[in-house]
Amino acid sequence: MTFLRVIGFSVLLLLGYMGFAHMLPQVVPDTSEPVEVSTEGLDMDGMIALGESIFKGKGTCTLCHNGMGRAPDTLEMDMAATYPSRLADPRYKGVAAGKEGAKAIEDYILESMKDPSTFVVEGFGKKGTNDTESPMPTVDKAPIELTVVEMNAVTAFLQDLAGLDPTVPLPSADDAPVAEEPAADGAEPAPLLTSGEAIIDEYGCASCHDLGGSGADIGPSLNGIGNRMDRATVIEAIIDPNAVIAKGYDADFMPDDFGEALRGSELLVLTDYLLALPDAAPAAADDDEEPLATTGLESIDKFGCAGCHDLDGSEADIGPKLNGIGTRMSADEVKAAIIDPNATIAEGFEAEMMPDDFADQMDDSELSLIVDYLMNLPE
Ligand code: HEC
Ligand code: HEC
Ligand code: HEC
Repeated sequence: MTFLRVIGFSVLLLLGYMGFAHMLPQVVPDTSEPVEVSTEGLDMDGMIALGESIFKGKGTCTLCHNGMGRAPDTLEMDMAATYPSRLADPRYKGVAAGKEGAKAIEDYILESMKDPSTFVVEGFGKKGTNDTESPMPTVDKAPIELTVVEMNAVTAFLQDLAGLDPTVPLPSADDAPVAEEPAADGAEPAPLLTSGEAIIDEYGCASCHDLGGSGADIGPSLNGIGNRMDRATVIEAIIDPNAVIAKGYDADFMPDDFGEALRGSELLVLTDYLLALPDAAPAAADDDEEPLATTGLESIDKFGCAGCHDLDGSEADIGPKLNGIGTRMSADEVKAAIIDPNATIAEGFEAEMMPDDFADQMDDSELSLIVDYLMNLPE
């Protein structure tokens, strides 16, 4: 469903790189009607850039392929030396077995995506399968659902990174354009947000960034950001936060799916709003604390939970859906999951993603309000 939006944003990212950000409004329509976006005409550099943004974003590849040992650290390892040894491995019986060269590596990468269990890198198989079954999802199936063009783009990116000339075909008129269908379940699309404040509220930016005096410091202060960053860099920081990591901060903290969630015009409104922010926050009020939230919903807004969790229809999916959580967890378990999120990790999700300092930030009353609210959320 979000494919087109992602392509839209990938194109946008490219334009950003090329310094044509001012042309964006014509390029990315923000209607909730089905839109058509063409990938036709992308050259190989474009494919490589698109592949990188998919690898780090929509494809969710970096959730596993990183330095944490869950999967081969693809972006860091020497692919040019490693992949040929995979093809020569007697355990490998796939399409590129015994072959050599860039084309064979293209085939190996594509096969790894479409049929991960064809060859399981030693030590990375599912537990108890003796490396015959891969834990990697099939990326052309739901929920990742990459298209052929997207898989080719990822392959071009990896080949380029390995120092090879990409061998994948460029997108042709047959591949594009594709129409983005309205939500299959008939759900109303989220209303279009038209002010910077509303977007920041919706996505909880101020719970990590000092913005308009929120004082949050998980990410850098965004006040006066226009003095140190240009437009294209701000756009990139929002839609591809791990491409460049702000000095003194950690990677993988800022959600990396804003590019999918935000519509084109929302991204522009947000960027303009940020660029115009004055250097210092307006003179801090007498009490520098945000006022105590007095309802569950207020507390959830204040701490930005809906930026990561599907809560009241926000559809965020960085963390598990919280609707109906009362039917599967006790109030004590919910409380523990909020104040000590890394003690138990929800199945299918990553550790270290949910902020672990809510205990310090929240008043006890706010915590109880949130727990009560969540326990009573219908499915
Ligand atoms: C849920 C975790 C997970 C995700 C998400 C994931 N992978 Fe993997 N991937 C693995 C594991 C584990 C292996 C090693 C086992 C195997 O060979 O199948 C692997 C193997 C691979 C290999 C072969 C690596 C080698 O060193 O030979 C490639 C290429 C690959 N993945 C590409 C991708 C791409 C591209 C994406 C995103 C579109 C992706 N993966 C998403 C877990 C994942
Ligand atoms: C869960 C915490 C979190 C949320 C939510 C979040 N960010 Fe970030 N953000 C970070 C962190 C951490 C960094 C620094 C690391 C990096 O560069 O990725 C960062 C970096 C940035 C930067 C680059 C700043 C610089 O000085 O380099 C911008 C711009 C930015 N964020 C904008 C936003 C916007 C706009 C939103 C809301 C749509 C948002 N962020 C939501 C944590 C967050
Ligand atoms: C930056 C993203 C992020 C934010 C912000 C965030 N969470 Fe989470 N949350 C996650 C992730 C990822 C998981 C799954 C991994 C884990 O269990 O730690 C999770 C897990 C949970 C769980 C356990 C769910 C289960 O099914 O086991 C609860 C409850 C929860 N979060 C509540 C909250 C509440 C309440 C807030 C706001 C105060 C919040 N989260 C803010 C990312 C986030």
